[in-house]
Amino acid sequence: MARRRRRRRAGSGVAGDPLVARLRGIVGPVQVLTDAEMRASYETDWTRRFGAPSRAVVRPGSADEVASVLAACNEARVAVVPQGGNTGLVGGSVPRGGEVVLSTKRIAALDEMDPVTAQVIAGAGMTAAALNELASPYGLRLGVDLASRDSATIGGMAATNAGGINVLRYGMMRAQVGGMEVAFADGSVVSRMSGVGRDNTGYDLPGMIVGSEGTLGVVTALRLRLVPVLPSRAVALLAFDSLEAAIGVALNARNEVADLQAAELFFATGLELVLKHTGLAAPFTERWPFYVLLEAASRMDAASGLADALVNAAGVRDSALATEARDRMRLWAYRERHTESISSVGVPHKLDVALPLGRLREFVERVGPLLSDLSENAMPILFGHIAEGNVHVNVLGFEEDDERPDDAVLRLVASLGGSISAEHGVGVAKRKWLELTRSAADIAAMRAVKDGLDPGWIMNPGVILQRHAG
Ligand code: FAD
Ligand code: MLT
Ligand code: ZN
Repeated sequence: MARRRRRRRAGSGVAGDPLVARLRGIVGPVQVLTDAEMRASYETDWTRRFGAPSRAVVRPGSADEVASVLAACNEARVAVVPQGGNTGLVGGSVPRGGEVVLSTKRIAALDEMDPVTAQVIAGAGMTAAALNELASPYGLRLGVDLASRDSATIGGMAATNAGGINVLRYGMMRAQVGGMEVAFADGSVVSRMSGVGRDNTGYDLPGMIVGSEGTLGVVTALRLRLVPVLPSRAVALLAFDSLEAAIGVALNARNEVADLQAAELFFATGLELVLKHTGLAAPFTERWPFYVLLEAASRMDAASGLADALVNAAGVRDSALATEARDRMRLWAYRERHTESISSVGVPHKLDVALPLGRLREFVERVGPLLSDLSENAMPILFGHIAEGNVHVNVLGFEEDDERPDDAVLRLVASLGGSISAEHGVGVAKRKWLELTRSAADIAAMRAVKDGLDPGWIMNPGVILQRHAG
């Protein structure tokens, strides 16, 4: 999907725009941005691959204001792009041209922290890091953790069903959501916030909004389940010269390390970029082709369980174990700083996919040659959350609007029985390939939901589904 070249011009938010005037009346004039420079950071995505000028950026401060903004845009038949931290990687958080961007950043208050039930109620615009800071005095934290934690909002994380590094222990964002308040296109607001342990009164609307990427409604508040902060943590970085051994050790660790909370895979190409970009020293004296990072956490002595399980691990060529916070962070940096390091050398095609575990090795071995066949400049950088077979295929060396690498990788994934959208969402980046892994009946059911909740198709149109097929 080509990034539309940005033309720096003001939105049509000039004095004569009746919609802009109405929005100003709802949220106050200061919270409607029409000046091109003021809008700029809301209009380009994190990857720099997607974005276009908006009509205006609106920053409501409450659920009521969100509902009124949506109703006004619905009446005017103007599309709305909900936006949280704008860390999304599939182009769904930025305009395609002329939409109103609805930023949730001001809806970020803590409403309730209940250490007894280990649940919190907070505004959708609160970042994951801010939530964790508020929960930390109670020995609690959000079960989903990801490298974008300082900017990603809990509303955006719910809207994308974010995954991250602790999925193998705590599940994805859906598993953390205990309640939700959501505003729909017609200005109605549904609140399912009671938090009672069992409630099956009708359809699970919050469950459907999770992962809907702003196409069904705007999440304004969430009740989230929290998990304990486990004080003893240990991180092991392992080097391999065989992919089979790396995958084998990582997957065995899931069964053998009771306190395992992360299992990550990365490769020499990515590590080289990280070292160059960050200036970090190499983890080992020798360069190895494959790396696995494991983290265990428990109330006491996470290190011994991890070390015991690794004593006889086959094929480990070098290893480092860290328990102190600074050392753990250094080992994590080799993995977590992949995203920024890749973006420092180009605009990657980011293909977040998942494979059945039994096909993971075959996928990794086939994807490089497949891309090289398309271009001698192809530079694939792979890393990911190996326990769920989630591989982030980042491809450099192609023009931004060249869809060949996307097409080739996603078709390979589908042919191996995998998912073309593991944790980042479909966005606009993968919409064209939905049919690879979703049947016509499946897509028709999704369209029926969309038609029902958003008959005017104003909510993030073009994300996941296109109004008119084709
Ligand atoms: P945005 O980017 O603002 O929006 C994302 C989507 O959600 C858009 O479609 C938008 O319209 C919609 N949306 C946002 N807020 C709302 C709302 N309140 N109501 C309805 N719809 C809304 N993702 C992972 O899953 N796992 C990772 O490990 C991970 N690591 C990352 C590391 C880096 C360095 C970066 C830059 C990104 C990473 N991401 C990861 C991607 C991204 O952080 C997640 O998708 C995150 O959930 C997006 O949150 P956000 O608030 O930034 O949402
Ligand atoms: C990660 O796991 O680091 C992310 O999902 C970000 C990315 O894929 O670049
Ligand atoms: Zn990820």
